[in-house]
Amino acid sequence: PPPLPPHAHVIAARRTYHNGDKVRIQCQSKFEIRGSEEIQCEKGKWTSPPICIGSINKQESEPTSLELDAAIRTSKTYHSEEMKIQQSCTSPPVIKNGVLLSPLLLSYKNGSSVEYSCQLYHFLDGPSTVYCKQGNWTEQPTCLDPCILNVTAINNNNIELKWRREELMFLHGDLIEFECKEGYDFPQTTLLSPGRTQCNHGRLTYPKCVLKAPMEKCDSPPSIANGALTLPPLAQYESGSSVQYSCYDYHFLQGSERIYCSAGQWTSPPVCIEPCTLSKNEMEKNNVLLEGFYENQVYFYHGDYVGFYCKQNHFGEESGTTLFQVQCKRGQLEYPRCVKRGK
Ligand SMILES: *[C@@H]1O[C@H](CO)[C@@H](O)[C@H](O)[C@H]1NC(C)=O
Ligand SMILES: *[C@@H]1O[C@H](CO)[C@@H](O)[C@H](O)[C@H]1NC(C)=O
Ligand SMILES: *[C@@H]1O[C@H](CO)[C@@H](O)[C@H](O)[C@H]1NC(C)=O
Repeated sequence: PPPLPPHAHVIAARRTYHNGDKVRIQCQSKFEIRGSEEIQCEKGKWTSPPICIGSINKQESEPTSLELDAAIRTSKTYHSEEMKIQQSCTSPPVIKNGVLLSPLLLSYKNGSSVEYSCQLYHFLDGPSTVYCKQGNWTEQPTCLDPCILNVTAINNNNIELKWRREELMFLHGDLIEFECKEGYDFPQTTLLSPGRTQCNHGRLTYPKCVLKAPMEKCDSPPSIANGALTLPPLAQYESGSSVQYSCYDYHFLQGSERIYCSAGQWTSPPVCIEPCTLSKNEMEKNNVLLEGFYENQVYFYHGDYVGFYCKQNHFGEESGTTLFQVQCKRGQLEYPRCVKRGK
């Protein structure tokens, strides 16, 4: 999709675009467009999008030289010719990288003005109109140097321009957006747009990208007690891969049977909890029998209930009842105890 600057909308947006496709960008009402209204997809990159800026209240325009000249002509006439000469100015100052747009004269009358602009790619900072004021010229503008992209620095920093551009020149104040070359990333940063930089008096700070951290792999998964992997383990696993465990017979699997390799670490493997093994010996000692339902069963899963009852003429030692439900807990069964009546 094309870039969408703040306060802008794209006319007739689509999902994908092809080389040569053009898109028109418009600013919301009350915003003025700066830059090209039309951007183009060129070899996988969009040309630089415009920006939308809130309308500025037009400042009261300064008086033009004509208006000033007129004011002077109609003003007081008692000034002597001498005074007028005293107050006139010599040739306007030469500005570095600047261009004088007005005709160059030897002498300028008090109140007259000249216009300056800057050479190509130079940014005019200050007033473009300079006035002759009682023998002196008012404050002059300066022409700020542009930034010329340094291809060596760009390559060294593993970056490239985000927007397609023919020229490698930027004006003072221009925002320049870089992105990382394929396989590189901005280092961890709190900056919102780490690839953005601004041309400042001909100087540019280039952002830097570093090689992407390779996805960390995992070693063999851990072995567990009373269980095993469903497949033989490998020496190394890719990030995101998984393995499965199963518990030995009658062992209760607690947790997740599948674990995952994530950032070089395995998630927690399951635990296999041992079963309870029925003891004929213990049953005999406690005078209990197994309920018919569990006939011939020897092993019970952790958490399972086992039904017992007292031998004939026997009753629960404490409860006085004859039927019992006992839960298997981590391999331990608490056998109920039955005693002969009257004892
Ligand atoms: C020179 O111009 C200023 C305004 O820029 C004006 O106030 C002043 O009276 C002028 N002086 C003469 C001698 O005309
Ligand atoms: C003009 O410049 C001269 C020399 O810098 C200074 O002495 C004079 O006060 C200035 N005149 C005005 C009107 O600023
Ligand atoms: C460009 O960048 C390289 C590396 O940072 C630096 O050595 C070189 O002087 C720069 N060239 C210019 C013209 O600034």
